[in-house]
Amino acid sequence: MKLDVFLSPAEVAPGDVAARVVAVIDVLRASTTIAVALANGARTVVPVESAEEAITRGRQFERSQVLLAGERRILPIAGFDAGNSPSEFGASSVAGRTVILTTTNGTHALTNLQGARDIVVAAYVNLSAVSTMLRLAARADTDITIVCAGDEGHFSLEDAACAGRYVRAITARGASASLNDAACACALIDRKYGDNIAKIFEDSNHGSALARAGFSGDLLACAELDSHPVVPIYQDRQITRLGPDRER
Ligand code: MLT
Repeated sequence: MKLDVFLSPAEVAPGDVAARVVAVIDVLRASTTIAVALANGARTVVPVESAEEAITRGRQFERSQVLLAGERRILPIAGFDAGNSPSEFGASSVAGRTVILTTTNGTHALTNLQGARDIVVAAYVNLSAVSTMLRLAARADTDITIVCAGDEGHFSLEDAACAGRYVRAITARGASASLNDAACACALIDRKYGDNIAKIFEDSNHGSALARAGFSGDLLACAELDSHPVVPIYQDRQITRLGPDRER
């Protein structure tokens, strides 16, 4: 089976995702907030491209049943219920609700993938749960693509390191896989940092920008390995958690 990593959505061609299981990574912060929201009981997360679309989609719901969330260039969108900090997606805010989310990078990466067999949202907070799903796909000889959301079209150290952690988890115990160069490089980045995820964020452009903007608490939350063990599946324009009743 093939295991390919793409360091930005712009690199991905239709043939790179067709009939594959695709993992989308935006560690800081969309993938993390999506996993946190679903782990805390959100009914579903709807990723949209723009603030205007979020407001329009929100009107389809009872006000008490929906949470408008998102950011542009790190800062919460004016008039929305929440920004993109994991701490804003606790059970008291999201349980039973639909979260409509628009972010600078992560939601864009998700909404522009056509033809994949499955699309899963991956981060450090749900690493083991998603890795188990990806290893099952690998054992069934299904090709896997990992797409890094990046940072406004540029390489993102934290997304690449997290992709490398997934590459190493999928290929552990000798699973035979043919890796592209980006997958090999990401595995090397992960090996360099090991479990020091805080150091990755400290070294990354976006991580240091979040710290400077006062979001250091988000960095701690995004680094908590396996703190939210859910498998978020993007299907029919919404993200729900894979449960026992919904095997792939
Ligand atoms: C995102 O999550 O799309 C972006 O990386 C921006 C952020 O939330 O800081």
